[in-house]
Amino acid sequence: MRDLFLLDPDLVFLNHGSFGACPREVLDAQHRWQIEMERNPVAFLGRRSAALLTEARAALGAEIGARGEDLVFVPNATTGVNAVAQSFPLAPGDEVLASDLEYGACDAAWQHVCAKRSAVYRRVEIPLPYAREEVVERLLAAAGPRTRLIYASHLTSTTALMLPVAELCAAARERGIATLVDGAHAPGQIALDIDAVGADFYVGNCHKWMCAPKGSGFLHARPERQAMLDAPVISWGYAEGSGGHSGFDAYLGRTTFERRMQWQGTRDISAWLAVADAIGFQARHDWPAVRARCHDLAAHALRVLTQRHGLQPIAADGDWAQMVAIPVPAQDPEALRRRLLDESRIEIPVTAHGGRTFVRLSVQGYNTPDDIERLLGAPALR
Ligand SMILES: Cc1ncc(COP(=O)(O)O)c(C=O)c1O
Repeated sequence: MRDLFLLDPDLVFLNHGSFGACPREVLDAQHRWQIEMERNPVAFLGRRSAALLTEARAALGAEIGARGEDLVFVPNATTGVNAVAQSFPLAPGDEVLASDLEYGACDAAWQHVCAKRSAVYRRVEIPLPYAREEVVERLLAAAGPRTRLIYASHLTSTTALMLPVAELCAAARERGIATLVDGAHAPGQIALDIDAVGADFYVGNCHKWMCAPKGSGFLHARPERQAMLDAPVISWGYAEGSGGHSGFDAYLGRTTFERRMQWQGTRDISAWLAVADAIGFQARHDWPAVRARCHDLAAHALRVLTQRHGLQPIAADGDWAQMVAIPVPAQDPEALRRRLLDESRIEIPVTAHGGRTFVRLSVQGYNTPDDIERLLGAPALR
């Protein structure tokens, strides 16, 4: 499968998690949309884009257990988290809870918004080794009368752990607390069913594990939550009688959500239109089997490296999917990352959490057992 991607053949690429990697044929599909756009940019963006995006959202929704009308495309998960954080009503003294395993940029977004509103942003420790069954209780035990929202990743960034988000959302709902699930790593890596997760808001990326072109994120909101959301960029959807004078359907929308979120000035929508091609690519290559093979390769690497260093995994095999945080002896993460790249041509992130150091291994369909052997044989990990 390596030939189906454009990855540098000299590189052992074990960092799908950071920015994904897109197959050649999906990029070709994106490029065809760009060329189609340039044949008549006015017709494409002004008059056709609304219908094309409706179709693209329906295709994505069918794959991830959601209705197309409850989804909008955004460039990335960070933008989706920002839209929610900047829109969600918070009064002084209100509180937002998060796990302490959240992605730094989105953690910063909540920190910033809460500080501006004189609200409290509190991270709740999820101790390692990971006890999945304790997560909901820990977060809910930390909630107080002013807790308005819980923010948690579906799959965490530095530690690659799957959090029990469906159980968390159900428990929060019972307490009248809203939820935002950050599924940046979920679509394509696990069989995602957004309706079953039941979050008030769910953000995800198609450009990571779904292998769609970069810039293809989405924001899902339950119908009753959609009207409260402001777009990250205020545009035509907020103007009285918008679109009427130009005949541009793109400025309109059938719901407030769509009207506000869909048009945010001129942008390249080709990545979103190619999401269906990425879904088709994975379907044709029997992705459930690919995922299982990747998980087994990652589990092998985890076992060998932890045994070599006399360390314990931080979680059970069922607590992660194609990405795993492998504990290594505590050291400077950046120095180890650089050695793996410079000495062994291995692109892999080295992360840190709670005083521990991890090699965060991503295994994707293009990886081979040889790639894993290269990692296990790297002098930096001896
Ligand atoms: C949990 C999590 N949330 C959000 C993001 C941000 O994704 P993006 O850069 O596509 O916005 C990442 C990126 O790795 C992530 O791991």
